[in-house]
Amino acid sequence: MNISKLAAKYTAFIIATIAILTTSANGQDKAALMKRGAEVYKAYCQTCHQATGKGLPNVYPPVAGSDYIKSKPKATIIDNVCNGLKGEVVVNGKKFNNVMVPLPANYTNDDAAAVITYVLNSWGNNGGIVSAAEVKKIRKVATPVKKK
Ligand code: HEC
Repeated sequence: MNISKLAAKYTAFIIATIAILTTSANGQDKAALMKRGAEVYKAYCQTCHQATGKGLPNVYPPVAGSDYIKSKPKATIIDNVCNGLKGEVVVNGKKFNNVMVPLPANYTNDDAAAVITYVLNSWGNNGGIVSAAEVKKIRKVATPVKKK
């Protein structure tokens, strides 16, 4: 085998290895986000949006199968959850006019990314991954307290 053939083989090997590594890293990221997201949802969001994600009629809109979540850009959902939401919203044909307060600062940007990823990938919602970096760009509150 001549040098250029060897180089081509080696390059192909490196590319394949990188592809495998990045895929499994993303897979792991998502699994970790889903796990932490479920914890944050249970500890915080569930009080209002309920364990089923269905919310409460006239008071708390559903996050399960929400056409609002489906139709809005990811940045809007990050903004709503992190910075709060008030005024009239229509979710699955029902009007809500209430207040969601900003995500408390004891939840880190990683927690916010995890819980939004969890909601995007649960109850028939349309998927997607949110990173802490995306949260950081949009979240307005003071830098959250770092957890160990
Ligand atoms: C104290 C109650 C409360 C908590 C806790 C809460 N929300 Fe909300 N949420 C609301 C209310 C009320 C609205 C609608 C606000 C309005 O009427 O403008 C809303 C709206 C939303 C919406 C947009 C509308 C929809 O249902 O699709 C999303 C997405 C959402 N919340 C996600 C979350 C997530 C994720 C958490 C946890 C990090 C959370 N909420 C915690 C009360 C709450």
